[in-house]
Amino acid sequence: MSANPASTSPWRLCVAPMMDWTDRHCRYFHRLLSPRARLYTEMLTTGALLHGDVPRHLDFSAEEPPLALQLGGSDPHELAACARLALRWGYDEANLNCGCSSPRVQRGAFDVCLMAEPGLVRDCVRAMRDAVSLPVTVKHRIGVDRIESYAFVRDFVGTVGEGGCSVFIVHARNAWLDGLSPKRNREVPPLRHDTVARLKSDFPQWTFVVNGGLVERPQIERELARADGVMLGRAAYHDPWRLIEWEGCAFASEPPLRSRDAVEAQMVRYMERCERDGTPWTAIARHMMGLRLGEPGARRWRQVWSDHRLRELPPRDVMQRAQSALSADTSACTATVDAVAD
Ligand SMILES: Cc1cc2nc3c(=O)[nH]c(=O)nc-3n(C[C@H](O)[C@H](O)[C@H](O)COP(=O)(O)O)c2cc1C
Repeated sequence: MSANPASTSPWRLCVAPMMDWTDRHCRYFHRLLSPRARLYTEMLTTGALLHGDVPRHLDFSAEEPPLALQLGGSDPHELAACARLALRWGYDEANLNCGCSSPRVQRGAFDVCLMAEPGLVRDCVRAMRDAVSLPVTVKHRIGVDRIESYAFVRDFVGTVGEGGCSVFIVHARNAWLDGLSPKRNREVPPLRHDTVARLKSDFPQWTFVVNGGLVERPQIERELARADGVMLGRAAYHDPWRLIEWEGCAFASEPPLRSRDAVEAQMVRYMERCERDGTPWTAIARHMMGLRLGEPGARRWRQVWSDHRLRELPPRDVMQRAQSALSADTSACTATVDAVAD
């Protein structure tokens, strides 16, 4: 089964919302590597947005779209107000998170608990849809705790669809609310990608995006052949260079920047631009630690970019040091190979 590159779903390749990770700087970086992926913000709660510093939460760079704002909340009026802000700020989508298992958010009666209240999710979606012309989408899991029945997630999707949601991003594992940390909840409950394929065949008129544990090209091609899109999270963050491969797999297209050096240099120009608004380069560099993964000298390169003692240096100088560390390591490797060859 091979992927169908002719599909033009806007959700064909997505980078997952990840708290503390996919901030605007991370998204700018990912955009350099994948011109067409749909990017997601970190989850923002309705409370933080409605009572907080809206520009600080919502501003993004012109390069970032297509871009979705992910919201956490369970009050239809508040979610509608946040969706209006998303529209006003220029986001391409408002996404409601029903798939997170953090105890902090469970207490707030939203996120994964919402899967047990499909009627409420339907009302939230309807209120958001009535407020804005943007796509309103839902990210969810396939079950809660030990409920393994397909009927649970099928009925959830059917009910939420009645509210006007036609795009479902499915993290294909259950959320276990009893005692597993959010991190373990992304690792321990077994993945069941087939469930998403089954949802797609039961609701062919709607868009389904498969999420969870996708890394390798054959896996991605298989899911693209039986659903509308894939969403990658941790793999995109830890090994961002592979976004180029995934982009090629999803769209059969090439990125404009084809070398790691070019991407690093572009990030330095971006750091210089952000410095004028008072953002230290360290806040940006932390997201590109995976750029050299697998290259000789990658560890030394990372050590330079994460050395906070260098924070007063201009980022261009830090890049020079990092690249020297990389090439020192490379020439050490070459010398060893030469010595062995001799
Ligand atoms: C550090 C971290 C933070 C996350 N934060 C969010 C979040 O804010 N909203 C959300 O819907 N999912 C969040 N997730 C879950 C991811 O979006 C994704 O569903 C999950 O990691 C599975 O995909 P993966 O196996 O490709 O990483 C987070 C995951 C990680 C690793």
